[in-house]
Amino acid sequence: MSDTPIRSKDNFLVFGSPAIEEAEIEEVVASLRSGWLGTGPKVARFEEDFRRYRGADYAVAVNSCTAALHLSLLAAGLEAGDEVITTPMTFCASVNAIIHAGAVPVMADIEPGTMNIDPAEVERRITPRTRAILPVHFAGRPCNMDALCEVAGRHGLVMIEDCAHAIETEYHGTPAGRFGEFGCFSFYVTKNVITGEGGLVVTREEAAAARIKVLALHGMSKDAWKRFSDEGFVHYQVTEPGFKYNMMDIQAAIGIHQLARVETYWKRREAIWKRYQEAFAGLPVTLPADPEPDTRHGYHLYTLLVDEDTAGVSRDGFLSGIQAQNIGAGVHYLSIPEHDYYRDTFGWTPEAYPNAMRVGRQTVSLPFSAKLTDADVDDVIAGVCRVLGGV
Ligand SMILES: Cc1ncc(COP(=O)(O)O)c(C=O)c1O
Repeated sequence: MSDTPIRSKDNFLVFGSPAIEEAEIEEVVASLRSGWLGTGPKVARFEEDFRRYRGADYAVAVNSCTAALHLSLLAAGLEAGDEVITTPMTFCASVNAIIHAGAVPVMADIEPGTMNIDPAEVERRITPRTRAILPVHFAGRPCNMDALCEVAGRHGLVMIEDCAHAIETEYHGTPAGRFGEFGCFSFYVTKNVITGEGGLVVTREEAAAARIKVLALHGMSKDAWKRFSDEGFVHYQVTEPGFKYNMMDIQAAIGIHQLARVETYWKRREAIWKRYQEAFAGLPVTLPADPEPDTRHGYHLYTLLVDEDTAGVSRDGFLSGIQAQNIGAGVHYLSIPEHDYYRDTFGWTPEAYPNAMRVGRQTVSLPFSAKLTDADVDDVIAGVCRVLGGV
């Protein structure tokens, strides 16, 4: 194996670096020059653009997907001790939001091929205290929403979709986020559409959207949002103790132009996905499953499973190896029960969720941003082949 890394150190390929273009730079500068930095007309426009993009009834922008999940769970009217079933193959925020809403998270293992929550496992975990299901469309691949909606309908459960990876995802003709009561999106820097930090809830209930809006701004009455307009002085009432979760115009300034390019970026990632699938077909690793018919994959993460027994290198060995080629990679995710806090608090063990445990211990995410040039993609392919094949 050559000693010269595929890329030089000063050309390190950062994992998840977003594509940012002149239009959003100019819009942010215009926001700064206007002096209107906080929540205002650009947030309203971003909400409306996103609502239309997903064909949703209502859209409320907030400052993260974590906030979107938290407020959706509160708007669902959960009470202390209510149980919410989610997946162990997710970012900790999905589980933390359930805890912060005063509810009890319950894990249901994933299907090994799709890495999405297994509807049969959901059914198995339902108790008289179960109130909601919180599926995550992992990597942008839609969950089995026919089965999950059927289970939710039969047991009278609220559906809150974690669409952090699933901005463009569709399942049997319906966009992710519109299957249940709430769909929560992320615009964090590594996501498919970015605002820096940012999130948004779509919902079909006007009252729920209004409640989320109030909770996102300290619990101040609806009119408080007019504080940010030029319609004159507005008094407000605090109707309940809320949070500081509102999105700023500076963030929306980025998001408006990013969203206008969502399909262009999706097509670029689709092309990268296809190149990776072809290039890695002969390697001793498990490739991500191809999209299912009548669905649209959001192409948020491209993940390989590295099993030491067949690959000849451990997952962590692969990570060190690819890093040594000056190519960044990620892990999405160690399964939730691997973390001490959840293990100690809920008594979960990784072994009780064997599919998520195995994926979490073998998975690596390769650079997959629309920003990648063809030459970057060539470097990633060469780096992976070198680490796995010693070439
Ligand atoms: C599956 C999932 N849910 C929730 C979140 C939280 O998103 P945010 O960083 O916007 O709060 C993330 C972020 O990485 C995520 O990947």
